[in-house]
Amino acid sequence: MVKRSEQSTILQLRGIKKKFGDKLVHNGIDLDVRRGEIITLMGGSGTGKSVLLRSLIGLEKPDEGHIYFGGQDIVGLSESKLVEVRKRVAYVFQYGALFDSLTVKENLAYPLRAHTQMTEKEIHEKVISTLTKVGLEHSLDLYPSDLSGGMQRRVGVARSIILEPEVILYDEPTTGLDPYNTKQILKVILQLRDLGATSVLVTHDMHAIFSVADRVAFLKDGNIRALGTSKEINETDDPVIQGFIQGESW
Ligand SMILES: Nc1ncnc2c1ncn2[C@@H]1O[C@H](COP(=O)(O)OP(=O)(O)OP(=O)(O)O)[C@@H](O)[C@H]1O
Ligand SMILES: [Mg+2]
Repeated sequence: MVKRSEQSTILQLRGIKKKFGDKLVHNGIDLDVRRGEIITLMGGSGTGKSVLLRSLIGLEKPDEGHIYFGGQDIVGLSESKLVEVRKRVAYVFQYGALFDSLTVKENLAYPLRAHTQMTEKEIHEKVISTLTKVGLEHSLDLYPSDLSGGMQRRVGVARSIILEPEVILYDEPTTGLDPYNTKQILKVILQLRDLGATSVLVTHDMHAIFSVADRVAFLKDGNIRALGTSKEINETDDPVIQGFIQGESW
């Protein structure tokens, strides 16, 4: 078995800088995401977690710096090249972003029809096996409006992972969910790690962070203030991070 310390790097962020007008959001962020890990980005509101996550698939463009994925710098890639990257790096939208007029099955089949040559039978089997991962294999013929918010979120996760991406980016996937749906989503994130996927997770949910994350990066003032295992971050004596964990400085 490969020890975590020996894991290779799948994403390398180097010197990421980003401003919106006068507002400096990122001030030279360096981060290595290791293949197969679950890494959480944590930090107060407005510290640039979502912007950083979106930068990883070219939905935001840093003003300076590089993001290497599989040896290729994705900063400044053309939209057509980014489409290729987005097959390998999936982004889970906060509210599922499902097509309301399509059934659950057709929502999941959509990326398969767009990006693979699978037969109808193969598509059907893949949709069922992926829905089973999120515990919704009996919801094939329902429409998004028939589902609870938590179920919609799980279908959204299923659709994001159906092309078997190497990296999955989650922006607050459990925010606002009840404990059952939260658990289902965390379970999927852990299962995907067992299958070798890498997850980058943005969340305010301390339980989620400390129950699933291998490592945590704490963002503050445009930089990564601390990076460590979830145990190291949980036990840090940095008063700013402890204040955040204890809910004093949201
Ligand atoms: N398109 C944009 N135009 C202008 N400012 C933006 C834009 N996107 C983000 N920002 C600003 O960049 C900063 C970082 O935003 P971001 O959404 O990444 O924060 P966050 O850490 O995800 O916060 P939260 O925890 O509240 O989701 C904020 O001050 C935000 O207002
Ligand atoms: Mg955000």
